[in-house]
Amino acid sequence: MHILITGGTGFIGQALVPQLLGSGHRITILSRGRHRDSEQCNFVRSLNELPADNGPDAVINLAGASLAGKRWTPAYKEEIVASRVDGTRELVEFLASRAQPPRALLSASAIGYYGPRGDQPLTETAPPGLGFSSELCQAWEAEALKAEGLGVRTCLLRLGVVLDREGGALREMAMPFRFGIATWPGTGHQYLSWVHRVDVVAAMTMLLEQDDLAGAFNVTAPTPVTQREFCAAMQKQFRTLPAIPAPGPVMRLMLGEMAGELLLSGQRVEPAALEAADFTFAYPGIDRALAAVFDPQAGDRLP
Ligand SMILES: NC(=O)c1ccc[n+]([C@@H]2O[C@H](COP(=O)([O-])OP(=O)(O)OC[C@H]3O[C@@H](n4cnc5c(N)ncnc54)[C@H](OP(=O)(O)O)[C@@H]3O)[C@@H](O)[C@H]2O)c1
Repeated sequence: MHILITGGTGFIGQALVPQLLGSGHRITILSRGRHRDSEQCNFVRSLNELPADNGPDAVINLAGASLAGKRWTPAYKEEIVASRVDGTRELVEFLASRAQPPRALLSASAIGYYGPRGDQPLTETAPPGLGFSSELCQAWEAEALKAEGLGVRTCLLRLGVVLDREGGALREMAMPFRFGIATWPGTGHQYLSWVHRVDVVAAMTMLLEQDDLAGAFNVTAPTPVTQREFCAAMQKQFRTLPAIPAPGPVMRLMLGEMAGELLLSGQRVEPAALEAADFTFAYPGIDRALAAVFDPQAGDRLP
């Protein structure tokens, strides 16, 4: 299969692309940067560089300015929205202009779709919530879903917090623990719906291959944890002092709106659609997932 991936240079793409290449697929990555092509993987900086007569068989849409990377100033919020909503609109308009649209579109979204929801279990049928992240995800998904009108099988990937060694949110989250400080944000009772990057790649591979799967998929492990439980799991990986909370008001002062939406509130998300499709998680529980991240050999030994 020839697969076009937007944002394929990022944290998820860095694991996904080698897996797809290893399965014999040909990849084109849309990237703002300059990169060296290889035999099976080439880069374009604009969709117009793709040959008119030889389009992709499938598209994976991952591009977007980091949500956790910076304070959400009005200008940065505009960049977050433009890079996802406008980027997805341009992608689907490009697909509409092709003589032969692709068979499938997998488009990233996030569990922020559900907004802050306390400890309410959330499957894909739950209605969207309130706040910037939710409005962003709703608009992002709406643009992706326009591909259905072209006859393209469309899967929306409502990703949880993706964990792995070489980047993503865990790099920041692990920082205090590396210095012996165990902590959780605010009350610590808010849920963290996480997923190991290995399972993200496996879920995407399944959704690419199974022609009967479409719609929204929560890409989260089946056992979300509270921030206190996450802290306790991290303490099994690092020698730390007894845990102390990071006070919510201080975090709000330092990080602004982003702290309120991403750290001090959360969602308890269940991957109902993946489970209904018989997806098997390699890392269903947080202890084994974190052991695999911080001590890969121990992770393989844990049940
Ligand atoms: N990782 C997670 O925990 C997580 C959780 C929920 C949702 N998601 C979503 O899943 C997608 C992939 O996640 P990821 O962690 O792989 O993302 P990432 O590493 O932060 O970024 C993916 C790619 O997006 C491109 N990009 C960055 N800023 C951009 C901008 N202003 N305009 C256009 N493109 C831009 C970059 O590619 P180039 O520099 O090559 O252009 C980057 O490599 C993202 O949309 C993210 O929001 C991720």
